[in-house]
Amino acid sequence: MSNWWKHGIVYQVYPRSFQDADGDGVGDLAGITDRLPYLADLGVDAVWISPIYPSPMADFGYDVADYTGVHELFGTMDDADHLIESAHDLGLKVILDYVVNHSSHQHPWFKESRSSRDSPKRDWYFWKDPGADGGPPTNWVSRFGGGSAWEFDEQTGQYYLHTYLAEQPDLNWGNADLRRAMLDVLRFWMDRGVDGFRVDVAYRAMVAPQWRDNPPNPDWKEGMDPYRKLQETYTKNLPDAHVVGRMLRDVVDEYDDRVLIGEVTLPVDRLMAFYGKNADEYHLPFNFNLIHSDWTAESVRAHVDAYEHHVPTTGWPNYVLGNHDQHRFASRVGPAQARVGHMLLLTLRGTPTIYYGDELGMPDGRIPPEMVQDPWELKTPGLGLGRDPARTPMQWSTATHAGFCPPDAEPWLPVGPGADVINVEVQQQETSSMLSLTKRLIALRRENPALHAGSYRSFDTPEGVFAYARQSPEDATDRFLITLNFTAETQTWTLPDGLYGTVEASARYGRRDDTVQGILALRPNDGLLIRIEHSP
Ligand code: NOJ
Repeated sequence: MSNWWKHGIVYQVYPRSFQDADGDGVGDLAGITDRLPYLADLGVDAVWISPIYPSPMADFGYDVADYTGVHELFGTMDDADHLIESAHDLGLKVILDYVVNHSSHQHPWFKESRSSRDSPKRDWYFWKDPGADGGPPTNWVSRFGGGSAWEFDEQTGQYYLHTYLAEQPDLNWGNADLRRAMLDVLRFWMDRGVDGFRVDVAYRAMVAPQWRDNPPNPDWKEGMDPYRKLQETYTKNLPDAHVVGRMLRDVVDEYDDRVLIGEVTLPVDRLMAFYGKNADEYHLPFNFNLIHSDWTAESVRAHVDAYEHHVPTTGWPNYVLGNHDQHRFASRVGPAQARVGHMLLLTLRGTPTIYYGDELGMPDGRIPPEMVQDPWELKTPGLGLGRDPARTPMQWSTATHAGFCPPDAEPWLPVGPGADVINVEVQQQETSSMLSLTKRLIALRRENPALHAGSYRSFDTPEGVFAYARQSPEDATDRFLITLNFTAETQTWTLPDGLYGTVEASARYGRRDDTVQGILALRPNDGLLIRIEHSP
């Protein structure tokens, strides 16, 4: 086993937005294949592609109508095969999204299930009689918009469960035939060469739910996401999710060297359970702590230290700064701190995931109301929940539409602000650009075992500074010190006595080769990756 996923870097592509090869304004598989050399050159190891399957696109592909097909918008199965082969030729792995909790209401399974109470697939979804008052069976609310999570079906007089949109009915993992069919989906793609899966809302899958009302959330206030009105006692992080996690892992383990990543949005103590009691669930339960942390040195250190403390010895850490559901990292922390954040991401212990365009510092797009696409924003306008801003076209060049699609096409979302400078073409030419910084950090991470496999230890530092050391497991002289200034003022820190090192990269200025010892003056919004030459 090479364990490539431990030492490698994952790059997430949102397929609608990466590269449009056929000129319809929507990205596609041929476009991704064309851009694989860019990813190989950047130095990442795996590309995770959000759903590419046939779908009515009620939730932009997270409503799957055929788990073993390719949406015609994205191309054909031949295009998928070609993408996988081309990636492998370049030494890149391919990870697909696996939507475990729900299908589309247009999936033939659901159409069959819905057709009658006696359908052989009735039990593949959750159907319930109305509650005592004639309304929905429980008070559960939908993740998008906070309406009932139950939809009444006139024809058969029962409700079905949909944790997300009514167009996304929940799958019943308690049904053996459904399980077989869903597990065969994993085999189908692994037989085609896919190297792993990112399992959508892995902590929600249900086998045998209790049909009980969720209690109200006493902390909910007007103006908050309406979905948060209730606590989720009976709807998420049930033991069932682990039953399903183990089933998926068993199938993934039938093949060599594949990876199972779980999307799990839970506090750190509960997140750990998703590695599995016997390391038999997810290789990498996604760690979103850096997304949820305040962006201060103290808060980030506390999150990293707590996470490091909890990760089991049989588990492997990982870190995420952004994805297709969050505001862009550069907009959340500002462009200067985005560079510091990427130095952090690429020097911590554990697999980093980079969201497309974050390596350039792409900010949130500006989406005029008439161009809103995301169903969440459409259902809860103005609460800042919409995800379109993070899904704007990848910025490749100074060409029309930032080179995402041909000039005469109209991109499905408008190109984001600042694309004339925040693009690959321009940043490749500047040695101090964010892209050049990211590339350098990736190269250093690849070359130095201390950075991709070494231990982690943080230091007590003055306010505003987060500092930690990484040391190779095999070679005590392979050591780095990372010092990050989370503030817009110069900060000074007295380095450990006798420590002497060379700066390999500066978050703010790019490459440097100064030497440091004694009192370190960290410039505003800068971070230094220091190779330790000597330390007592
Ligand atoms: C999590 C995905 O990341 C998000 O984009 C999607 O809307 C929901 N799961 C539902 O599948």
